[in-house]
Amino acid sequence: MDFWQNKRIWVVGASSGIGEGLIGWLVSSKARVLISARRDEKLREIQTRFSKDSVRLLKIDVEDHQSLEQKGEEAWSIFGGFDVVFLNAGMSVRDLVSDTQVMVEKRIMNINFWGPVILTKTLLKLKQPNDALHLVVTSSLSGKYGVPKLAAYAASKHALHGYFDSLRAETAQTNLKIHLVIPGFVKTAITVAGFRGDGTPNGKMQNALEKGMDPEVCAKYILVGVAKGKEEFVVGGSERFTVILNRLFPGWNRALIRSNPLQRLAKIKRFFGFQ
Ligand SMILES: NC(=O)c1ccc[n+]([C@@H]2O[C@H](COP(=O)([O-])OP(=O)(O)OC[C@H]3O[C@@H](n4cnc5c(N)ncnc54)[C@H](OP(=O)(O)O)[C@@H]3O)[C@@H](O)[C@H]2O)c1
Repeated sequence: MDFWQNKRIWVVGASSGIGEGLIGWLVSSKARVLISARRDEKLREIQTRFSKDSVRLLKIDVEDHQSLEQKGEEAWSIFGGFDVVFLNAGMSVRDLVSDTQVMVEKRIMNINFWGPVILTKTLLKLKQPNDALHLVVTSSLSGKYGVPKLAAYAASKHALHGYFDSLRAETAQTNLKIHLVIPGFVKTAITVAGFRGDGTPNGKMQNALEKGMDPEVCAKYILVGVAKGKEEFVVGGSERFTVILNRLFPGWNRALIRSNPLQRLAKIKRFFGFQ
């Protein structure tokens, strides 16, 4: 993984799951990594696994928009800039639209969409014209199509595509590179930590994620995709084919989603011998 050697990296959303999975690979590739999230006790525990020179820590809450410019500047000063920034922090809400409060939907947009956008604007101010910078934005299958009980989450991830595709087009002739990563089902606590429609913690892991990809394996595929210069790519099990299905036959994908998609997906997987 030569691409990562000596790179200065910021992982926002590094305290668990996919973000945490990235750290070990990056350090073993001799990158220096700044890790950020809200739970600093979790970040400190992660930091103890590595040398203090290779992994630094900065607590951040991407929902606290007032603080983000200053946090971005503080982060930038730690290694004197970044080569790659992973905008990976995210929260889910899992409930019917009719049972979800607008306040909770706004929180999801604030964390998943406005957090990465505000941090990006700060980074672009700090970046000098000669600095090369890769932004790696974590989207989702729900960033490509909507599914029941994930309306606000899907909206926030769709918004990331619209925003970062536009920014990529605006900066095509520059050394800013934007990668949109679409993980499939990854075995993390995203739905445990996430909200119900009333804003209380969901507290349970979604079945599909329970059987999903190991977050470290997912992290490795992400690093390979970025190193190869992929602008948008899907990482996951056979569920990743729904993105192709949606692109080629959107009507079929919509029909699939309406008719209990996970049960159907399990049937399709069995048909093709995936499980
Ligand atoms: N797991 C999947 O199947 C899957 C599929 C598609 C996309 N994704 C996306 O992958 C990304 C990582 O999620 P994950 O699955 O690895 O779940 P996770 O283990 O719950 O990780 C979420 C990360 O985001 C951080 N975070 C949440 N709210 C934050 C805030 N307000 N400020 C700063 N950091 C915050 C969390 O740290 P703190 O709680 O310490 O702040 C944690 O480090 C998310 O963007 C998620 O939408 C996941």
